Amino acid sequence: MSVKISVQNLTLMYSDGVESLHDVSIDIIANAVNVLFGPAGGGKSTLLRALNRLNDLADVDTAQGKIVFNEQNILDPATDVIELRRKVGMVFSRPAPLPLSVYENVIYGLRLMGERSKTLLDERVEQSLRQAVLWDEVYDRLNDPGASLSGGQQQRLCIARVLALEPEVIMLDEPTSALDPVSTAKIEGMLAELKERLTIILVPHNVQQAARTADYAGFFLQGRLVEYAPEKGLFLKPREKETQDYVTGRFG
Ligand SMILES: Nc1ncnc2c1ncn2[C@@H]1O[C@H](COP(=O)(O)OP(=O)(O)OP(=O)(O)O)[C@@H](O)[C@H]1O
Ligand SMILES: [Mg+2]
Repeated sequence: MSVKISVQNLTLMYSDGVESLHDVSIDIIANAVNVLFGPAGGGKSTLLRALNRLNDLADVDTAQGKIVFNEQNILDPATDVIELRRKVGMVFSRPAPLPLSVYENVIYGLRLMGERSKTLLDERVEQSLRQAVLWDEVYDRLNDPGASLSGGQQQRLCIARVLALEPEVIMLDEPTSALDPVSTAKIEGMLAELKERLTIILVPHNVQQAARTADYAGFFLQGRLVEYAPEKGLFLKPREKETQDYVTGRFG
């Protein structure tokens, strides 16, 4: 196992004085599904945003500590944020296709980067849609609006859009919270395949999904990483009472 991203003593405070992450250290393991879970307000989304510097757009006041990715500290002001966001892609919980065709949705990022080759774009569309387990459903509708797809298809389209940039890491923040169980199962199955080629960070929408998908899991409570363990450790044999109460449904 190798470490893809190393978060070291990260403390993050919003400008209203809320400390949303407190001294968090966690290793994100390469080619694995890294699950971050816990009750509302625990800091999961804040951590994901920190990993591709989306917090720059929010009201973050101070960030202390380090986030090491490819031997560089992401928090360093000199970080090329555009490049970082290409390598560390983000998928949000509400699928938000752009008001464009299925095809153009997938290659949106590549177009922004100035890619012109029709052959490359065609190839990347098929490759990304296949990886997102959507190709078989849309190969004959590539010119239809993205918004004409079902909710579950739209979410996979958004995943394809991120995959088209060939990221090293893909972060998904409750990607199935608006989806039915069938679409949810498709996305979970896709993650199991994708981890062969890239690193996945998933904030699941419930404990069951956390237990189903995790190769590594961290439990977050009020800005602290309470506990972290490989595989089903946190769900079968939690060390901390807080984790146990949460995974057994006693609070949350
Ligand atoms: N832009 C912001 N400005 C100020 N405080 C914020 C901001 N975003 C989040 N917070 C605060 O930071 C803390 C962590 O929030 P965050 O959204 O990271 O939690 P979460 O674990 O993702 O929760 P949820 O499960 O509800 O999505 C909360 O106390 C929240 O109120
Ligand atoms: Mg969140």
